[in-house]
Amino acid sequence: MGHAVPLPTGTDPAGLEDVACAVVRAAGRLVVEERPAQLAVSAKSTLTDPVTVMDQRSQELLMTLLGERRPDDGFLGEEHGGTTGSSGLTWVVDPIDGTVNYLYDIPAYAVSVAAVTGDPSRAGDWQAVAGAVLNPVAGELFHAHRGGGARLTTAAGTRTLRATAATDLAMALVGTGFGYDPELRRRQAAALLELLPRVRDIRRHGSAALDLCGVACARLDGYYETGLNAWDRAAGELVAVEAGAVVGGPDGNVPDRDLTWAAASGLAEDFAALVRDLTARHVRGPD
Ligand code: IPD
Ligand code: CA
Repeated sequence: MGHAVPLPTGTDPAGLEDVACAVVRAAGRLVVEERPAQLAVSAKSTLTDPVTVMDQRSQELLMTLLGERRPDDGFLGEEHGGTTGSSGLTWVVDPIDGTVNYLYDIPAYAVSVAAVTGDPSRAGDWQAVAGAVLNPVAGELFHAHRGGGARLTTAAGTRTLRATAATDLAMALVGTGFGYDPELRRRQAAALLELLPRVRDIRRHGSAALDLCGVACARLDGYYETGLNAWDRAAGELVAVEAGAVVGGPDGNVPDRDLTWAAASGLAEDFAALVRDLTARHVRGPD
């Protein structure tokens, strides 16, 4: 979430939430309805980090729609850079979060869009104002604006989200994820080896945005990951916080690439202490 970055004058967080919802719905339709039977894939940061033509098309659509509706705002997307706006707001976009799931047609991927204040290229210098995360296959739209609570909209209607009432780490269901770099993964696995015996169980769903929304909608008690980018987490973090969860980083409440964690409020202190210690020793430490 970052430090409290002031809102530009005249900002309407609820209106921005509506914009985020509208554009993720459009991109979600695109990625589901126009998914080719044979997806062309290229490798990005490593051989196992895929980008498909649909990640690119989804981002282009989001950039076009946001440019039409919010021409003065900036844009930062996972697939190819961005633009700086003049309004003080930037749209931070993951056109398909969970690209490996998308590739294998596993129905756990999302389009994630957030409007943020500050500079999203610098961890700690930005804060989400509004956001939406859509799992287009499940038909689940998670959305929130700062100070306005978090909601889940499905075909059955809209309901307010609340994180779990969990307090006992030993009974916590914990989500996590892994980066694409082999050495980072080895370190993440070492941290996980120590975490697993201390919690109820773990889940690796394959979409950081959906994991954060999972904490918001009580499908997970906690979630942590190292190596996330702003687009993986901007919207999901806001949804989690607005659902009453606590979000933080390696120290304090500012998540960054070193560590992003989210937990039900009754669990947050113990959970933060555990994942901070494990990631400091195994992921960032000399291991
Ligand atoms: C990835 C997913 C995954 C997480 C990785 C992310 P992508 O995003 O969110 O769950 O573990 O760290 O990079 O590459 O599918 O957009
Ligand atoms: Ca992502």
